[in-house]
Amino acid sequence: MASTKITITQPDDWHLHLRDEEALSTTVPHSAKHFGRAIVMPNLDPPIVSAQAALRYRERIIAKIPPNSNFQPLMTLYLTDNMEPSEVSNVKESAHIMGIKYYPAGATTNSDSGVTGIAEVYTLIEKMALLGVPLLVHGEVTDPNVDIFDRERIFVETILSPLTERYPELKIILEHITTKDAVDFVKNQSKNIAATITIHHLLYNRNDMFFKGIKPHLYCLPVLKRDTHQRALIDAALSGNPKFFLGTDSAPHCQSEKESSCGCAGIYSSPAALELYSEFFDSHNKLDKLEGFASFFGADFYGLPRNDKQVTLEKMKWRMAKDFSFGDQLIIPIHAGQDLQWQITRA
Ligand code: DOR
Ligand code: ZN
Repeated sequence: MASTKITITQPDDWHLHLRDEEALSTTVPHSAKHFGRAIVMPNLDPPIVSAQAALRYRERIIAKIPPNSNFQPLMTLYLTDNMEPSEVSNVKESAHIMGIKYYPAGATTNSDSGVTGIAEVYTLIEKMALLGVPLLVHGEVTDPNVDIFDRERIFVETILSPLTERYPELKIILEHITTKDAVDFVKNQSKNIAATITIHHLLYNRNDMFFKGIKPHLYCLPVLKRDTHQRALIDAALSGNPKFFLGTDSAPHCQSEKESSCGCAGIYSSPAALELYSEFFDSHNKLDKLEGFASFFGADFYGLPRNDKQVTLEKMKWRMAKDFSFGDQLIIPIHAGQDLQWQITRA
């Protein structure tokens, strides 16, 4: 009989946006409820470009962690053309900063200060490879003439593939992959290359974004792709291959910025992320593969210990809230007002 209860090592979220200031009162408790650790993205405005700024940001996050939670934020720096090489050493020396995030300039939310061309940051990347500092990659080209559905594939072919050849020792996490091309690339690379997979790219494809009207709350970047790509992601997540692990890319934007004539990219999944990943693995009869994907492979890749704590999930319906307060605005979560099948009953 199919399981209706499962106990696993506490999972971590290897790709998360928390934002800053008032937003932290909403976002931090949602992630801290279940996850042990989360890699926090640095794309604030202004971005987090120094270790000192990352450590200050970490303190602001810690101030919002509920008292009964063991949540630990793991920080990242935002790579720019002008980053001081000493910042790479600062990351290496800090127990709280895990890596450096590469946003191609203009690729996504708050990426205007990102890298303008890969050659601009070769010196920094060389130092990262030498010191073993991981590079976290938003893998999309930004040429407006490239079709939006091809941007990840072309990035993999023209930027990432040469980069791995140039720096074979560099640890790279290709974030929030969306295509079969990215899956195949990661699979065929050395153990230094891994990828995160979001719950929304597993549950949805681009048809869902346009089902009976345009769905702004399913707009994210990289944008949802066609079902054949979704299928490749599903197979990768279920495969038990340790190169693929959990990263929600939960990205909060208030309702008015999503439901707009120029809507922001991002899906707010942290209030139900672990429950939805569980539902996803269960729906494919692969609950036995959840723990590796959610709790082991990311920690192993980053060279961190696996969590000691355990969480228990049970198959019991509950309903997601329609919205949450977000400063003086509202935020609409993934599956707003809908039923979910799994609950965390012991965390
Ligand atoms: O959908 C996204 N939202 N993709 C990203 O790459 C950034 C994120 C955000 O920060 O809003
Ligand atoms: Zn992200």
